[in-house]
Amino acid sequence: MTHSFLDDPVKQLWREKVIEFVRKQYGVGKLSKLKVLCMPGSEMGEVLRVWDELGVRRKNIYGVEYGDEEFAELEARVKELPNKQRIRLYNGDVADFLRDENTVFDIINLDYCSYFSRDVGKALNEITQRQRLAEKGILGVNVLERRETKARQRDYLDISALFDEGLVKYVDPKREKGNNKITFEEGVREFVKEIKFPSDYSIEKGIDLRDLRQQIFTRSIALGFQVGINPMDLPNLFPPEFLKSMLEIVIKFFLAADKESDGRYFREYDYAKEIIEGENLRDIAVTPNMSTLLQAQLKQQHAKQGLHPSVAGFIYLKYKKPYFVEDVASYRYASQPSGSPMICDLFYLDQRREWFNPEKADMVLNKINGTYKSVWKNTKSGQKKIRQLARNEREATLLSNADYEEQRNYMIELDQKYTAYIRSLEQLKPDRIRLS
Ligand SMILES: C[S@@+](CC[C@H](N)C(=O)[O-])C[C@H]1O[C@@H](n2cnc3c(N)ncnc32)[C@H](O)[C@@H]1O
Repeated sequence: MTHSFLDDPVKQLWREKVIEFVRKQYGVGKLSKLKVLCMPGSEMGEVLRVWDELGVRRKNIYGVEYGDEEFAELEARVKELPNKQRIRLYNGDVADFLRDENTVFDIINLDYCSYFSRDVGKALNEITQRQRLAEKGILGVNVLERRETKARQRDYLDISALFDEGLVKYVDPKREKGNNKITFEEGVREFVKEIKFPSDYSIEKGIDLRDLRQQIFTRSIALGFQVGINPMDLPNLFPPEFLKSMLEIVIKFFLAADKESDGRYFREYDYAKEIIEGENLRDIAVTPNMSTLLQAQLKQQHAKQGLHPSVAGFIYLKYKKPYFVEDVASYRYASQPSGSPMICDLFYLDQRREWFNPEKADMVLNKINGTYKSVWKNTKSGQKKIRQLARNEREATLLSNADYEEQRNYMIELDQKYTAYIRSLEQLKPDRIRLS
């Protein structure tokens, strides 16, 4: 007999925590209209005990199940119901559903029975990169708290090193040291010399895997949601040829770093190895190194036009649409009767679109040949330029000098806020509550 989640008393306590968190974020009027994606299990337990309880309409609930037997049981159960009480069903991996189904959900609750694997990471990436969660929405992630593969344990260390060390910026081909341009080879050598390998890192810090896992779980999800739209889906900001050349630089750089370190780089960062050797451009485009590089490129482009680097930061944020953590609750519990330890995070995420409100920060870009370029000031030459552009381009905008100053200051302020927000994620280690 398969495990009954419906009869598990601790699972029920977890469901009550989900209900409590959802009620905290939404008023009664809104609840029935919420669109929910969940993994209800063959018994449909989550629908009966969570979403029905909250009054979410069944037709707004999407249930995903990849187990063939479980799906058959779930489907039979749903088919017995009158039309009005049916939920929508999908047989397959939830990560594939998120990739393919072009629907925006208010709540996505991923109740896995496996550990925090790369498959879970894949589903989370699809949500943020394809914007599957509403502007303000809830994300739940529930996983088994152990039994990772060795490779995944190393991922934790990689991520942890990333939090502590900041991002390595050696990849930028135009980076300068003093007045000298740094050559590609010098950059690689410097990178390999200065980089902290996970194995050094764990020895140095005496890291305990259990502690690490708990710290990383919440923070890596929160940080992952900063990625927002995949740069490959932002051709206006990053024209495909430009992006492709950047991706090629990163691939070349990491291959060289691996050679320079006698194979240690890929041995210890096997996630990097997989995506780079597989030339999975979508994955490469969202590596932290790539993000840093892209932002640096935007900043350079804007600096040439005399604009403050924060303007580029603002533009990047505006178009990639990250999700910010507004509220988070974390739980640990042992599911019954097996006693399997579970960890669960519930996030209330908000894209804070008001920060990008056109009244405060009107379109600061002009679209030229399909690419966004900086604002034009209200000068004679600016006016001439804008008239030319306006004939062809919808988004050409003219700002007066006063507006321009105000907007620039606003963008600088926002950039600072964002940096402070990213730092605050380092503190994100919520207390874990024991259910029972
Ligand atoms: C923990 S159970 C769900 C329990 C349910 N949420 C409840 O409250 O009773 C997880 C279910 O999701 C399915 N599942 C696990 N990983 C999945 C994946 N990657 N994609 C789709 N379904 C998955 C499992 O087969 C199982 O039926």
